[in-house]
Amino acid sequence: MNWEAILAPYKQVIEELKVKLKGMRSQFEFESSHSPIEFVTARVKPVHSIIEKAEIRNISMDNIEREIQDIAGVRVVCQFVDDIYTIVGLLHDRNDFTIIEEKDYIAKKKTSGYRSYHMIIEYPVETIHGRKMVLAEIQIRTLAMNFWATNEHSLKYKYEGNLPAEVQSRLKRAAEAAFKLDEEMSKIRSEIQEAQRIFHRK
Ligand code: GTP
Ligand code: MG
Repeated sequence: MNWEAILAPYKQVIEELKVKLKGMRSQFEFESSHSPIEFVTARVKPVHSIIEKAEIRNISMDNIEREIQDIAGVRVVCQFVDDIYTIVGLLHDRNDFTIIEEKDYIAKKKTSGYRSYHMIIEYPVETIHGRKMVLAEIQIRTLAMNFWATNEHSLKYKYEGNLPAEVQSRLKRAAEAAFKLDEEMSKIRSEIQEAQRIFHRK
């Protein structure tokens, strides 16, 4: 398989999405005091991970592009939970791609304790052979959710997916703490904004 050729449009897509999302961030920065976007990261799934996922899920090489939806992955990290829904709303209003699936793991967290908002989009990318529709996954989460997910991911990798019960329950407690942190920060946020409104009136 010519992986370089297969992955080239995916690389293009993540670069374009990064430009667009970072563009939204800068626009917020000069139009208002708070940007709902803290930072944006993106990656093309490494070839060995694509092959591994295809093997585990019994996906033939011909179906990889349709069935593996996170070959192009973009992550938007926010300060507050409300910011996530602001971004979701803005993404709904765009017409440069189509949202084909959404999962709100914030409203309903995973049993692992994982929280994030996921979108699968179909993104039209112009190639030298014409337009190609490429699937991409956008994950939107807070800094606290990201901190938890990154550490949990490292541990799952270390234990090859079989986390000892002890580690698993620690992670659940950590997820609960991350959730509380998000809640507390949201409360502080509204107080700050209220204070600013009062200040403004005087
Ligand atoms: P995937 O095959 O992983 O795409 O599963 P899926 O199609 O059911 O999608 P889902 O939305 O559940 O997960 C997609 C991505 O979200 C994963 O590839 C991870 O990046 C992330 N994710 C989902 N669940 C967890 C979790 O429990 N822990 C961590 N750290 N990340 C998760
Ligand atoms: Mg998926």
